Amino acid sequence: MTAVRTVDVALIGLGNVNRNFLAILETKAARLRSDYGLAFRVVGVADSSGVALQPGGFDPGDLRRRKEQGAHVRDLAGYRAHETPAGLLAILACDLVLEASPVNLVDGEPGLSVVRTALGRGIPVVLANKGPLVLAYQELHALAAAHGAALGFSATVCGALPVINIGQRDLVAADVISLRGIFNSTTNFILGEMAAGRAYADALAEAQRRGIAETDPSLDVEGWDTANKLVIVANSFLGMKATLADVSVEGITRVTTEQLQTELASGNTIKLLAIAERQSETCKLRVAPTVLSREEFLGHCDSWEMGIEIHSDLYGRMYYKIWEREPLPTAAAMLRDAVNILRPRR
Ligand SMILES: NC(=O)c1ccc[n+]([C@@H]2O[C@H](COP(=O)([O-])OP(=O)(O)OC[C@H]3O[C@@H](n4cnc5c(N)ncnc54)[C@H](OP(=O)(O)O)[C@@H]3O)[C@@H](O)[C@H]2O)c1
Repeated sequence: MTAVRTVDVALIGLGNVNRNFLAILETKAARLRSDYGLAFRVVGVADSSGVALQPGGFDPGDLRRRKEQGAHVRDLAGYRAHETPAGLLAILACDLVLEASPVNLVDGEPGLSVVRTALGRGIPVVLANKGPLVLAYQELHALAAAHGAALGFSATVCGALPVINIGQRDLVAADVISLRGIFNSTTNFILGEMAAGRAYADALAEAQRRGIAETDPSLDVEGWDTANKLVIVANSFLGMKATLADVSVEGITRVTTEQLQTELASGNTIKLLAIAERQSETCKLRVAPTVLSREEFLGHCDSWEMGIEIHSDLYGRMYYKIWEREPLPTAAAMLRDAVNILRPRR
């Protein structure tokens, strides 16, 4: 029988993603014990109201339901007034941090300090939040290496589609010649609605009505979310030390319904692509609305789908896509990273 290791976890952010992680712990606890020898125990949590710790563990179902009913961390037993998430990580005895707070491209907070503090103590971190990597990919990886702490981030690019795993694990010794991807399903949904005849403003309003676009949709529609993911890809498996300043970014705000319909009439479409093209030692990085044939792989990657095509010198042309509408697969991608980091090596 496999010995079961109790893994004490801190959840930073208790929104869609980490609440779905809690739901997975409710439904898959027995499976995680039997197949992977892991029993996750949530000992620290943070939301916008503050932080709480519970060394004996919060009940995952109760925590999830209370958050869904509108409770805040400040309402929980174990709430620590005036403590920040990074402050919590500086004192909490835990084995893993799952960081799923909002993207902040200005100073990376609260995620950046959380990741720095945890890695600095040798505690592994799994991210859904892209912000810390976009602002400090190289620094955080150097810190992780210096302290022997793993940093998982397969959930940061295309939700559960294992783009990062494929790039880091399955392209051994390859040079990527070019890469193109649809990395943002909100803009893909909007372009799909426009292709069906809606004006841009109506399509955006529909995305907001369905809760898939933020009230401030600029990160998505101006192309920055796609650019964030391209920066992570470039650092993780294109051999670059890229930042957002290296990416030329154009979003979808100037695409018109008329342009889309003209392209459709000739068998084409317009997609917001992340593009990397090899130029000797480096790659040219850009995000731009791009005309594609409907026959191409990405040309029929529609609505809730995200996809990537990778052309490398050794592995030919690879094509991957995912259909993902809910946050559950992203939460599962965090679980995947956590298990891959923690499970005993066979
Ligand atoms: N949703 C997806 O499918 C998806 C997919 C891939 C990546 N991501 C990334 O995953 C992260 C989380 O996404 P989400 O959909 O779960 O977001 P969300 O529903 O907006 O939840 C964000 C959580 O962070 C908390 N928070 C906000 N400010 C904080 C602060 N200063 N300190 C501590 N906690 C704070 C919020 O607190 P309150 O509960 O008090 O508001 C909330 O619990 C984001 O970075 C997102 O880009 C999401």
